[in-house]
Amino acid sequence: MAYVAIPRKYRPKKFSEVTGQEYITETLRNAIKSGRFAHAYIFAGPRGVGKTTTARIVAKALNCENPLDGEPCNQCPNCLAISKGSFPDVIEIDAATNRGIDQIRELRESVHYAPAKGKKKVYIIDEFHMLTKEAFNALLKTLEEPPEHIVFILATTEIDKIPPTILSRCQKFVFRKIPKELMVETLKEICQKEGVGYEEEALYLIATASEGCMRDAESLLDQSIALGGGEVKAKEVSEFLGVLTGKDIAEILKLSFSGDKQRLREQLKNLENQGYNPLFVIKQLLERVEKEFIEGEEFTDEELVAAFKILSEAHKSVAFHPYPYTALFFYLFKLSYFKDLKRIGELLSGNFKLSLPEKKAEETAEENSLEDIYIKETNDKGDFVEIIPKNRTAFDLLQERINELERKFGKKVKLVEIDNGTRKKEVKISPESEEKIDKLLKTFSAKLFPGYPKVIDESSNS
Ligand SMILES: Nc1ncnc2c1ncn2[C@@H]1O[C@H](COP(=O)(O)OP(=O)(O)O)[C@@H](O)[C@H]1O
Ligand SMILES: [Mg+2]
Ligand SMILES: [Zn+2]
Repeated sequence: MAYVAIPRKYRPKKFSEVTGQEYITETLRNAIKSGRFAHAYIFAGPRGVGKTTTARIVAKALNCENPLDGEPCNQCPNCLAISKGSFPDVIEIDAATNRGIDQIRELRESVHYAPAKGKKKVYIIDEFHMLTKEAFNALLKTLEEPPEHIVFILATTEIDKIPPTILSRCQKFVFRKIPKELMVETLKEICQKEGVGYEEEALYLIATASEGCMRDAESLLDQSIALGGGEVKAKEVSEFLGVLTGKDIAEILKLSFSGDKQRLREQLKNLENQGYNPLFVIKQLLERVEKEFIEGEEFTDEELVAAFKILSEAHKSVAFHPYPYTALFFYLFKLSYFKDLKRIGELLSGNFKLSLPEKKAEETAEENSLEDIYIKETNDKGDFVEIIPKNRTAFDLLQERINELERKFGKKVKLVEIDNGTRKKEVKISPESEEKIDKLLKTFSAKLFPGYPKVIDESSNS
C-alpha cells in the first residue's frame, strides 16, 4: 500500500473520534440526530485542532444514507464520496485564495440550486476571515435568508476579524488546543496501530513541541518514526525537536539553585551549540516549576515562586537579547541567591541547619539509627565534623559511639556542647548575612519590613 502521512491516515471519520472537542462534537451530533441543524456555523480556533475534520464529519452525517445516532456510516456511497472529496454537494472553498466578490457572487448563485445527490448542500469555507469586505457583505444576504437545503460551515483561526453582522447570524464553536495528556494518548494509539515502539517521554516531547496542534504532533510523530528507524526514542526526539527531556530540565533547575556557575554555563552552552531555542527552554522550565509547585518535594514554595518570577522576567528580555543564552545564564544564576536565603530563613526561625555535603548524606543515609540521635545540623569544618546532639542523653549516647561516627564521616568528629539540653534559639545575623538578604531582596525589588530582627553576630551560637 502506498505510504500515507499520519495526519491524513488518522483523520477522524466520526464525531466520537475527534479528540478534545467533546462539547462541540456532542452538540453537533445531537443537532443532527434531532434534525434541528442550523444553517450557519462558525468553527473558530487555532490550526490543526479539528475544524476541517469536524466540518467534513458534519457534511457526511447530514448526507449519509444510513446515519446511526447522528454519526455517519462511512460506508455508503455518499460518505465514501465525501471522504474522497468528490461529492458534488459538499463544496470546500479556501477563502485565502478565493477572497473576492466574484467568487462569493458565484457561490450565491449556486446556493439556490437543490442538492444534486444528497440531502443538504454543505459549504465549508476555510480561512473565512480572509474574505474581503465586499465578499462578506455579499455573503451576508445569503446568511439572512438561507435556502432550506443549505448549510454553511465557516472555519477561521481569527474570529476577531469577522464582522459582527456575520457573527450574529451563525452558531459559534470555539475549538480548543489539544491538552498534552490527550495528545499523548492519541499518539500512543497511532504508534500501536502502526506497530511502532515508543518511549512515553518521547511522545510527551512531541506533544510539548506541538503546543496543542494535533496536526503538528502527528507530522512530528511521522518524522520521528522515520528518524528512529521505526522506534520513537526520547533522546533522539529531544535533539530533533529542540525540546529538553525531563532529566535535563531538572538538572538545569538544580544547577541554578546550587549556584554551580561552571556547570550551569556548560549545560547552557551545550544547549546553545545544539541549537535549542532559548525561549522554548524557558517555557519548559516554567512548566516544570509549575509542576514542582503543585506536586514536587525537592524545592520549597519560596524557591519556586522566585524561580517563576525570575523565569518570567527572563522570557521577556531573552526574546530581544543579542546574547540570549548569556542573559538566560545570568537570570538562572540569580536563583542561587536562594541558597543563602534558605539558610538565613532557618537562622531567623531559630532552626539553624547546616547540612553535610550531598555525597556524605547519601553515604550515611542507610544508617538512620545514629542520625536519629543528633539534630541533622552537622557542620563540616574542613578537617573535622561538628555534630549537635538532640539532648543531653543523645550527647552521652553519641559520646559512646564516636568511633562509629568517625568511620562514617571519614573525619574526626566533635560533639558540640549543648546548653541545658537544648540549643539557644536566639537569632543573630552577621553583617555579611545582612548584605546577602539585601542582595536577594533587591532581586525582587522588595524591602525589609519593620520589626526585622536586629543583629549582633551569628557565630556566637553556642
Ligand atoms: N481534535 C482532533 N482529534 C484527532 N485528530 C485531530 C484533531 N485535530 C486535528 N487532528 C489531526 O490533524 C489533522 C488536521 O486537522 P484539521 O481538522 O484539518 O485541523 P484544522 O483545525 O486546522 O482544520 C487531521 O487530519 C487529524 O489527523
Ligand atoms: Mg482546516
Ligand atoms: Zn454513510
